Amino acid sequence: MITISTPDTHQDTAELRRQINALKAERDATILAHNYLVPEVQDIADLVGDSLELARAAATLDSEVIVLCGVDFMVETAAILSPAKTVLLPAADACCPMAEMVTPGEVRVLRERFPDAAVVAYVNTSAAVKAESDICCTSANAVAVVESLAAEQVIFLPDRNLARYVARFTEKEILPWDGYCIVHDRMTAGEVTAARRAHPDAEVLVHPECRPEVIDLADHVFSTSGMVRYACASPGREFVIGTEVGLLHQLEKKCPGKIFSPLSNKAVCVNMKKTDLAKVLAALERLNPRVTVPEETAVRARTAIRRMLDLPR
Ligand code: 13P
Ligand code: SF4
Repeated sequence: MITISTPDTHQDTAELRRQINALKAERDATILAHNYLVPEVQDIADLVGDSLELARAAATLDSEVIVLCGVDFMVETAAILSPAKTVLLPAADACCPMAEMVTPGEVRVLRERFPDAAVVAYVNTSAAVKAESDICCTSANAVAVVESLAAEQVIFLPDRNLARYVARFTEKEILPWDGYCIVHDRMTAGEVTAARRAHPDAEVLVHPECRPEVIDLADHVFSTSGMVRYACASPGREFVIGTEVGLLHQLEKKCPGKIFSPLSNKAVCVNMKKTDLAKVLAALERLNPRVTVPEETAVRARTAIRRMLDLPR
């Protein structure tokens, strides 16, 4: 009889988890993961959260090493906030295409054109863009950040959809940059209508990176962790989720017994899927890929991020 030996994936995963946990203790490391990561990476993390929760954790952790499972701007933010720590990005090529849609030079041109405007940078930007900005925001606090400003005119970059969403809640004049998330901007009003037909009892929760016509048809708009908090607390049992599909793992874990369906099965961020357990282990073994931000950029970017973190919750 011919037999073929195939790797036992469960055993491999268990062994990887064991090695990661052992090395994590040895290295004095904390593993942070965004809500969009693959389930096995979320499950090994010390904290899984949205961009704001990850930034807050990076600012306050006392471990020597931070393994940030996410994309480049999140890891840069952690490195800016904790320059003395070793901050690792296990998938070196995990980037956010939206963050690349605006450059520091473009921000300087906007400042010349609108000298009275304040500049709000979504955290989904490079460190160099943050350094040219007055304050950062995330999807969880964008309205509060804009309302905290003295200026009546606000340049909001790079996400045009989040900018238009914020404009619904403020008297200030919002000048949106024309960037967008390639995952959220693809969701359509037609998908919301179809989801309502397929799940008539479900509440529809969408992310503010979605287009205005999708937001108009939703029941609620939240950051990723905002969706988890809302779904757990709601008396409702069924939810359609208008964000990247990775969030369904946290939703199912934190709200057992409730039913979650993605608004779109195509809502997959390939960059958020680049991190696996083997890369987390390799990063801990080699203390690499390490992300650092030159101090002349970091010092100005830190001011913009800190202003956001210092706002009352
Ligand atoms: P939040 O998790 O902060 O809502 O952000 C979503 C996102 O697209 C991060 O890249
Ligand atoms: Fe960037 Fe969108 Fe992916 Fe978030 S989901 S990392 S905004 S491309």
